[in-house]
Amino acid sequence: MTTHPLRFGIWALVHGSRAAHQDPEEPYDASWERNRDLVLAAERLGYDSTLIAQHTINPHQEDLDQLEAWSSAAALAALTSRIEIIAAIKPYLYHPVVLAKMALQIENISRGRFAINLVNAWNRPELEKAGIGFPEHDARYAYGREWISVVSSLMQGEHVTYKGAHFDVRDYALRPKDLYRARPTIYVGGESEPARALVVDHGDVWFINGQPLEDVADLIANVAARPRPSVPLRFGLSAFVIARETHEQAQAAYERLSNLAAKDAPMKAIQKQNTDPKVVMMQTMQKTPRLGSNGGTAAGLVGSYNEVASRIGAFHAAGIELFMLQFQPFEAEMARFAQEVIPRVRQLQSRPLADRTGAGSLSSLR
Ligand SMILES: Cc1cc2nc3c(=O)[nH]c(=O)nc-3n(C[C@H](O)[C@H](O)[C@H](O)COP(=O)(O)O)c2cc1C
Repeated sequence: MTTHPLRFGIWALVHGSRAAHQDPEEPYDASWERNRDLVLAAERLGYDSTLIAQHTINPHQEDLDQLEAWSSAAALAALTSRIEIIAAIKPYLYHPVVLAKMALQIENISRGRFAINLVNAWNRPELEKAGIGFPEHDARYAYGREWISVVSSLMQGEHVTYKGAHFDVRDYALRPKDLYRARPTIYVGGESEPARALVVDHGDVWFINGQPLEDVADLIANVAARPRPSVPLRFGLSAFVIARETHEQAQAAYERLSNLAAKDAPMKAIQKQNTDPKVVMMQTMQKTPRLGSNGGTAAGLVGSYNEVASRIGAFHAAGIELFMLQFQPFEAEMARFAQEVIPRVRQLQSRPLADRTGAGSLSSLR
């Protein structure tokens, strides 16, 4: 399969640590200042993208701090110069006209580096307690499909007239248009059948939750085979990385985080109660024990620098273009990955395809 050049991104820490909340090496911090410094550091280290998840209230524990995605994305757009900024969006929270206008403004501030990640909600209280309501899984997707049709056309500067079950937009056009390209990029996060149909019809990049290579390859094959109105779909993968000099050291770091994560069991039980059981993402995440959110370590990026580099190469060969990564403690591990793993991946990429995987080729990298 032909793939786009590899890119690496980081998840912003919108609700603190990704694997374990009670870590002496990473005290809870979801502040703007921390996230600002994190994304600026990521840009300096050569990362290509950042994903700012959207949650109005903290999905783990409601009295914990939560960063607001869209205002933070606008501020980050002004402060950075190269990194792509992706802000997640749950359609029920904003009317499509308002959201498209915000997206075009951040595209303008960032000079063509902005993207939205359409997600269709799993945390019931976030919408229910606001009085918005929490429709059933496929009804949320039907709403999201109408919503993205309007947003996508408006972001392209079209005069939009749209009458559907949920929206009645008449001869609406946003100015200025995108000054840098046709419109900001549209990512979609979600694994269910309606999510797949939605991304094929309206998305540019499908975000897949971290999971083993064979499962990711099956998902890509399933979606890539479907007819599309325009250019082929691209693919991103969420993953939590633990990379060390040796395999044993990585395992020890995994154990440390696993022991800490066990302390979050009461919090996770509440999260489970709040989750729509029909969300496929959550069902997938039950299959493999893991650290981190959105699949986390289930993608298998735990091991020596060479092992992790080799697995990344294998995912890329299967069609993954963008790796959206999590670490803990984030700043130090993100820097380690940039220094130790990315150069190894680049070195592997420079070799002929047949020579990229397998212990033999890797041992020469040590
Ligand atoms: C990369 C990625 C990022 C996501 N970001 C968010 C987010 O910011 N906020 C949120 O509520 N859900 C987020 N989700 C979860 C989706 O909302 C979830 O997958 C959705 O409920 C779709 O369910 P499905 O898997 O049944 O299609 C994300 C999912 C992925 C794969």
